[in-house]
Amino acid sequence: MPRAFYITTPIYYVNASPHIGHAYTTIVADVLARYHRLTGEETFFVTGTDEHGDKIAEAAQKAGVTPQEYADKISAQFRALWPALSITNDYFIRTTDSNHIDNVRYILQKVYDSGDIYFGEYEGYYCVGCERFYMEKELVEGKCPDHQTKPQYRKESNYFFRMSKYQNWLINYIKKHPDFIRPERYKNEVLAFLRDPLDDLCISRPKTRLQWGITLPFDEKYVTYVWFDALINYVTALDYPQGDKFKKFWPVAQHLIAKDILKPHGIYWPTMLKAAGIEPYQHLNVHGYWNSDQSKMSKSLGNVVRPLDLKDKYGLDAFRYFLLRDMVFGLDSSFSEEAFVQRLNSDLANDLGNLVSRVITMAIKYCDGKVPKINHKKKDLTLHKAALKTMAEVQADFNDMSLHKALIVIWDFINLTNRYIVEKEPWTLGKDPAHREELTKIMYNLLAALRAIAILIFPFMPQTAQKILKQIGVDESEKLDLAGISKDDALTAGNTLIRGESLFPRIEITKENKISAEKGATMVDSKPEIDYEDFAKLDLRVAKILDAEIVPKSNKLLKLRIDIGEERTIVAGIGKDYTPAELIGKKILVIANLKPAKLMGIESRGMLLAADTDNGLTVLTFEREAQTGAKIR
Ligand code: MSP
Repeated sequence: MPRAFYITTPIYYVNASPHIGHAYTTIVADVLARYHRLTGEETFFVTGTDEHGDKIAEAAQKAGVTPQEYADKISAQFRALWPALSITNDYFIRTTDSNHIDNVRYILQKVYDSGDIYFGEYEGYYCVGCERFYMEKELVEGKCPDHQTKPQYRKESNYFFRMSKYQNWLINYIKKHPDFIRPERYKNEVLAFLRDPLDDLCISRPKTRLQWGITLPFDEKYVTYVWFDALINYVTALDYPQGDKFKKFWPVAQHLIAKDILKPHGIYWPTMLKAAGIEPYQHLNVHGYWNSDQSKMSKSLGNVVRPLDLKDKYGLDAFRYFLLRDMVFGLDSSFSEEAFVQRLNSDLANDLGNLVSRVITMAIKYCDGKVPKINHKKKDLTLHKAALKTMAEVQADFNDMSLHKALIVIWDFINLTNRYIVEKEPWTLGKDPAHREELTKIMYNLLAALRAIAILIFPFMPQTAQKILKQIGVDESEKLDLAGISKDDALTAGNTLIRGESLFPRIEITKENKISAEKGATMVDSKPEIDYEDFAKLDLRVAKILDAEIVPKSNKLLKLRIDIGEERTIVAGIGKDYTPAELIGKKILVIANLKPAKLMGIESRGMLLAADTDNGLTVLTFEREAQTGAKIR
């Protein structure tokens, strides 16, 4: 059986238009899909829209149209955006599609028949934005931590899924499959959550309150809770239960999400699958947030950057490159147009763009405008070997979702190729006909390096890759494959070289042409100089946060259980800037020898360090993996 790859994005809510957060996830999925196709795997890539539930019903009501009309309009915006960003999804699913509705009802009935769905009563705090109930302790100052709105208190009779029954199974499954949820910090977050007893999941809404949903197959008076409906899209898209696609792709299913929806994907979904008798997915890949002005970019906070504005202004490939290069997969990133333009000018215009234009100009000049015919024996293999090494590293980076690292190693190769030109000085060799053969071989090597670069960047920047291939005379019909990099004689002698336009013209950013900006801080209130001895008195350590909880009755204190080689409790005033869940698993910097102090009755033995910025506190973390308890000098 050929190797296969299945990648999904979240299906996006249709209560507002797409922004760069959605674009990022979908572009990452596209990069993965394109990469896996390049390796010869059969690939299926699904995205779509999540259209039922309170949120959509409310948005439709505000807009004065029916939920279906509203969903049709916004779903069409998402569907139209993806081709504009060169997204190559194989399928676009809508939860209002009839095959999906049938499938949700089929699975509900199956789980109901097996006894894992029961009728009961529920009361609690409900956030419409998140479409879920919150426990009181999860709220920050009585508000939803994501939407910063007060949830409604609700009491209802409803149907429940016996999620608690699968808690131990899930814990064991995650422990046995360490990369089931990755990066590791999110696995730890899920395991931390599973330390408390898991509640059963309320999976229905009475029609007296909400009609916009899938009617339960076993009770006409209720519709399905939107998450129980939405998650099932991942198997509907494969024609579960009978489809060939399901057989082929489900065993290799990988989901891609941001950390906002970790709980439904890391807990609800695997337990739902287990109850329905379906094997768990293979990987849940979780990334961080694109922030704008230090807050998560989100429709509800109204601080979004629109993907098409950036694409129109700077070009699609530059936009894709920036998103992929600037975000370390798993961590948050702050969007800034200045950072974007800087990358465009340095990595794209200077490094890549200049390389391509130099090589093509010289090759046209020294090889009569054609790919030269050379004797491949006794050729200098420096660049070829470096390309092979780069390919192997890129493969490893894709396997563990380190896409920014893949770009770093590709750029190392680009820069090595630039240095190769400087070392070989083709312009000097070109002055002496005795060096003709050597010069021709060097030019071939450089053209072959451009071919390797084009293949390597293809998943990230498909249009640029095609432009480079065209310039070095590669036929458009040639099927690209990653393994093709291993051939050192892949270019066809005699093919015409074509000088193209500059791939990435340099850009100046001015006040007038700016889409968005970030403020910097100035250095005020500086303190008097100190001696090294003063500094050396501090025992600074790497600490790992094992647990975090809000200190009751305080509005900004969090109690943290940390590991600094020994376990300690510290109390930190960062509750306005961080939720407990996002801290667990983080490695931070702590002053370990500060005299203990009592805060709200809790003894704090140590203090964490955080930057005090205009937009709140940012806890100091480490750029690379740092061993717990290590000293900081
Ligand atoms: N409908 C649910 C998902 C159901 S999946 C079965 C949903 N939709 S959403 O429209 O809110 O999309 C959330 C997803 O959009 C995130 O998980 C992420 O993929 C993307 N992003 C939205 N805002 C984002 C950022 N600010 N930063 C990064 N990604 C973001 O949740």
